[in-house]
Amino acid sequence: MQDNGKPKIELGLEGVYFTESGICKVDGVNGRLYYYGYSIETLAENSNFEEVCYLLLNGRLPNAAELSGFRNSLAQERPLPDEVAGLIEDSPKDAHPMDVLRSAVSVMALYDPDANDNSDAANMRKSIRLVSRLASAVGAIGGCRNGIGYVKPDSSMGAAGNFFYMLTGKKPDAEAVKVLDLMLLLHAEHSSNASTFSGIVTAATLSDLYSAVTSAIGTLKGPLHGGADQAALEMMHAIGRPENTEVYINDALAGKKKIMGFGHRVYKTYDPRARIIKNRLEILQGSANEEVRNLTSIALAAEKLMIDKLGSSHGIWPNVDFFSGPVYTDLGIPDYLFTPLFAASRIPGWCAHVMQYWKSNRLVRPLEYYNGELDTQYVPISQR
Ligand code: CMC
Repeated sequence: MQDNGKPKIELGLEGVYFTESGICKVDGVNGRLYYYGYSIETLAENSNFEEVCYLLLNGRLPNAAELSGFRNSLAQERPLPDEVAGLIEDSPKDAHPMDVLRSAVSVMALYDPDANDNSDAANMRKSIRLVSRLASAVGAIGGCRNGIGYVKPDSSMGAAGNFFYMLTGKKPDAEAVKVLDLMLLLHAEHSSNASTFSGIVTAATLSDLYSAVTSAIGTLKGPLHGGADQAALEMMHAIGRPENTEVYINDALAGKKKIMGFGHRVYKTYDPRARIIKNRLEILQGSANEEVRNLTSIALAAEKLMIDKLGSSHGIWPNVDFFSGPVYTDLGIPDYLFTPLFAASRIPGWCAHVMQYWKSNRLVRPLEYYNGELDTQYVPISQR
């Protein structure tokens, strides 16, 4: 309580701890990130998305037989129920893809016999299903907008390969699969970020995993969270040419506009994921595709300007969403799929947190300080 009798309010719950977890450590001071103790750099160098999904869902790395079994389980769950594929095919082509994805997950629940079984075993089965099917659903959204319709998943491929296959109907390029797999791994988990927290809030009422994931997808959509990747690329397109970058950024900052893909509630230094993605941009500088080269130059110019202006002085550095645009453009992934792909990569993190929270569940119900009137006189409508 403060001197004026008003409780101290932490806007946006900034700096508030609400639970304990060993899943993920975000060290915002030193710019480090760990999944179950493994640094993101170690995982990016040595692991892959499927193995990281196993790690997040089980709390340890698999041995070879366990990984193979896990991959088989994911492969079996890859096809979407007909009703979900139909919903994606029939949804308006101008609907927001995150709205389509959120609706697709809701419909998945209707055809899952485990939907309302909250036992540990059922939750693990649903997690595997969701990890596998979100990537299929995003591929299907892309394929349906590409005009090739719903391409049945190819179960011989992993999440990244199958996504490309469903997007294009063609066997994907091995290098592209490797790059997308790394992007999925980098986005797989990030502690109690807004979408994970909203999933936990839903789960904490003892609702179910599909409801929690639906909440999380709705939360991820916003441009202050997962939507920033698409917004950052749109800004790069608006800048147009590298030589326009300085004027654009100066005008935006003078107009108090936020530069998408910069800043973070926890990192007050360079986001380690952005650093890893930036390595790819160094390769893209030599790309044969002029659009990719141009976007890459704009991104690197904007990064330098923003760090000079707001880096050390304000703690505003590139975050994971800033460099994704040029990378995904190089892979032939349309911008409207960036945030849905973020969801398809964050799903193991969402499920891991929900399952962990349920082990010592407590309803999440914070307080708000009432600053309005009391006993307001009710005036009949005819006299208002
Ligand atoms: N560009 C310019 N100024 C910024 C930016 C930015 N990207 N981010 C923060 N600021 C300024 C902000 O205007 C404010 O200035 P002042 O104190 O003068 O009013 C100050 O920094 C604090 O900003 P805030 O928004 O109150 O701080 P926050 O802790 O709520 O910020 C954030 C976190 C991610 C919402 C914010 O940095 C932001 O809006 N960034 C742009 C959107 C973005 O890139 N989101 C992705 C986040 S990382 C991945 C993910 O979660 O999906």
